[in-house]
Amino acid sequence: MWLLNLPVMLWRRLLLVGEGLGAALLLAGEAAAAISRGSGPVGARLAALFASPVGQRRVFAVLRLVQPNLRFGTVLVAAYANSGTAIVTRRDDVIDVLSRDDDFGVVYGPRMKAITDGENFFLGMQDTPRYTRDVSAMRLVVRREDVPAVVAPFVAREALSRVAAAGGRIDVPQALTLPVAAGLLDHYFGTPGPSRAEMVDWTTTLFWYLFLDLQADPALDAKAASAAASFRDWLGGHIAARKASGETRDDVLGRCLALQASGTPGLDDRAIRDNLIGLLIGELPTTSAAATLALDELLDRPAALAGAQKAARAGDDDGVAGHVFEALRFRPLNPVIYRRAMRDATVAGGTLRARRIPEGTMVFAANLSAMFDPLAVPQPGRFRIDRPWDTYMLWGHGLHLCFGAHLNRATLPGLLKPLLARRSLRRAEGPRGRIDQQGTPFPVHLEVMFEG
Ligand code: HEM
Repeated sequence: MWLLNLPVMLWRRLLLVGEGLGAALLLAGEAAAAISRGSGPVGARLAALFASPVGQRRVFAVLRLVQPNLRFGTVLVAAYANSGTAIVTRRDDVIDVLSRDDDFGVVYGPRMKAITDGENFFLGMQDTPRYTRDVSAMRLVVRREDVPAVVAPFVAREALSRVAAAGGRIDVPQALTLPVAAGLLDHYFGTPGPSRAEMVDWTTTLFWYLFLDLQADPALDAKAASAAASFRDWLGGHIAARKASGETRDDVLGRCLALQASGTPGLDDRAIRDNLIGLLIGELPTTSAAATLALDELLDRPAALAGAQKAARAGDDDGVAGHVFEALRFRPLNPVIYRRAMRDATVAGGTLRARRIPEGTMVFAANLSAMFDPLAVPQPGRFRIDRPWDTYMLWGHGLHLCFGAHLNRATLPGLLKPLLARRSLRRAEGPRGRIDQQGTPFPVHLEVMFEG
């Protein structure tokens, strides 16, 4: 049997070499062009080159070939204590890092505690009894069967009516993905917030603070402290008001209160508040941003866009989903997942690429790279909608795999399907037809036009 696999393995190795060398040449050419042309500081021009998804894919292709598990002493992340940096790029090794919780732990605890004013949230916890208690409690209230029964129909209805009301031109984040994702906070979670704008602002700021503020910007620190205080006050008051009203609603908050009344541990008012803060930060900015990125990627790929539109018009939900998730493989919301070495550990032990990772090292497990590793993913550079689901590492892996994973599989295609079903879907003219992040890490504007 291994003899039959030999040609395949050889071909994959050849691809690894070819892609790595090709990417190195392209990067060198583009870096030279960025240095010799354009305006502004050279460093910023180079950074922009490597920050683009295409640039990142090329850097990872080179690393997979020449230095699959890179480790250096420089501290790149100031937000969480660490003693250096490692980048893990081969799929097997990314999965390994995200599966070895005793060796590579999550780092977010201190900032989670700052947000809740004292308590950790389960994404910031190691694999402890407390982690299991909290995640189990939340799984009792956010149920998988809600996806087809409540969440998907709500998203389908709301997205359809927003596209229908748009009159042939829509600012996707502002008029579609943010309002519908925020609508779920009310309709499903039972936590609408004082206004949609405040919920968007709080959850976006806190997501940014937790996961993207690598340089620990003091201005963002102050903004996050204020957003967290307002979020805690509003949600604490809302929980108290719901209890005082005696109203029983079958939404996520209502189920939390029912469990509290039954004596389920870990669900006093404050714990409900803190858990919901964590879930809502996970839900709103991510859902909107990921849907917008997927659409943006499709708009850059005429054949894929045509395929997605055909599927949407035919009511082929699997076909729409196939296009949306393949688009996200090229443009995942997060290209890496952070872990910190809890003790001295070795990645890829017993192989030529083995790398010792000293305790305290911040490890970037590159999920984007894992999804393009030619040793594990057939034709990684091609847009294919027939990939097995486990190809996709769009929201983590292992213990901390996204709590919303099943929601995402319904909400992301559901948000885009009514838009994709419209004829002549295209970018609006000029800069309006391009993603505008308004100085945030998330898409704030992207206008598209359509007929019918
Ligand atoms: C497309 C949208 C989303 C993306 C791209 C995304 C991404 C991620 C990623 C990468 C992780 C793993 C973090 C790590 O291991 O360090 C994660 C975990 C998590 N996500 Fe999401 N997420 C999305 C939607 C959601 C939604 C809708 C919710 C809430 C309902 C949510 C709640 C969470 C929570 C609570 C965790 C921690 C899970 C644990 O520690 O066991 N996310 N997400």
